[in-house]
Amino acid sequence: MTGDAVRIVEMGPRDGLQNEPMPVSVADRIDLVRRLADAGLAAIEAGAFVSPQWVPQMAGSDAVLAGVRDLAGVRLPVLVPNMHGFGAAVAAGAREVAVFAAASETFSRRNVNASIAESLERFRPVCAAAVARGVPVRGYVSCALGCPYEGPVDPGRVAAVAADLARLGCAEVSVADTIGVGTPRAARDLLRRVARDVPTGRLAVHFHDTWGQALANVLACLEAGVRTVDAAVAGLGGCPYAKGATGNLATEDLVYMLDGLGMRTGVDLDRLAATGSWIAGRLGRPTASRAGRALAARSTVA
Ligand code: HMG
Ligand code: MG
Repeated sequence: MTGDAVRIVEMGPRDGLQNEPMPVSVADRIDLVRRLADAGLAAIEAGAFVSPQWVPQMAGSDAVLAGVRDLAGVRLPVLVPNMHGFGAAVAAGAREVAVFAAASETFSRRNVNASIAESLERFRPVCAAAVARGVPVRGYVSCALGCPYEGPVDPGRVAAVAADLARLGCAEVSVADTIGVGTPRAARDLLRRVARDVPTGRLAVHFHDTWGQALANVLACLEAGVRTVDAAVAGLGGCPYAKGATGNLATEDLVYMLDGLGMRTGVDLDRLAATGSWIAGRLGRPTASRAGRALAARSTVA
């Protein structure tokens, strides 16, 4: 693994902020994307074109995209649930989109008001339109290691949904532990099961850190060959339809581990940690990143 490049897909401005009790201003969301890009993150999920009735925190994602249009060499995917969202995203200048399905029926209904099969049917025209325009599409499979409503989830089900997304045209599929219940062996076994249907090179992993397992899960999946990992600065995040789930794996903690493993990310940890402290301050609480806190303590001592 040493010397390999790992692609980090930064979730802070979307998954990170979509669950905040007080919506964050468009100006701060733009600032966050710019600071993350400045820290070296080359893929940053910038917002979501979902219903503002459902997720008011993501309203104004068009203005966020407008405010970061000049960023060169940074991929800025946005979440779209249907053609309505896709049209709005493209009109706002999105050059990359992401669709999101689930491996659990109940979560799917709560999150997008549709069964898994119905949600996949909604994505069919989205993926076709995106592919026709040369817009890369990423797909998520939520609740891959457990569901807040149904409990354990069958890995075969996760693989089937991932394969459906890949067939629809998703260039990459992110296998997501939405509620952060996975442990390393389960994560690696799941990854290997999904890789029988979608090649590992097209898979990403997305861990929430509810039980403190996210970093260990990433390591297990790196050992199984994954090289794309989702994370959110300052450990921000959560899903409004997965109560009790905490934030994403903190990007700072991920970068610290990857640096230690000699894997290449292109990310400057000090700048990233400063961004984590900044956004945590804007939200009125300390960063959830252990590495971010350790770096801050070191600079206070020095
Ligand atoms: P619905 O109410 O069934 O939609 O919601 P509808 O088609 O019946 O339309 C109702 C109204 O919404 C209509 O307006 C539509 O025009 C409008 P009206 O005629 O009443 O004035 N509408 C929209 N407005 C803006 N943008 C749109 C849009 N679509 C319809 N795209 C819908 C269905 C999918 C829209 C809704 O359930 C929704 O937006 N859900 C999004 C939920 C969400 O964002 N969840 C968090 C992201 S997923 C996640 O966090 C997991 C992930 O991080 C990975 C992991 O950790 O698992 C990705
Ligand atoms: Mg998530």
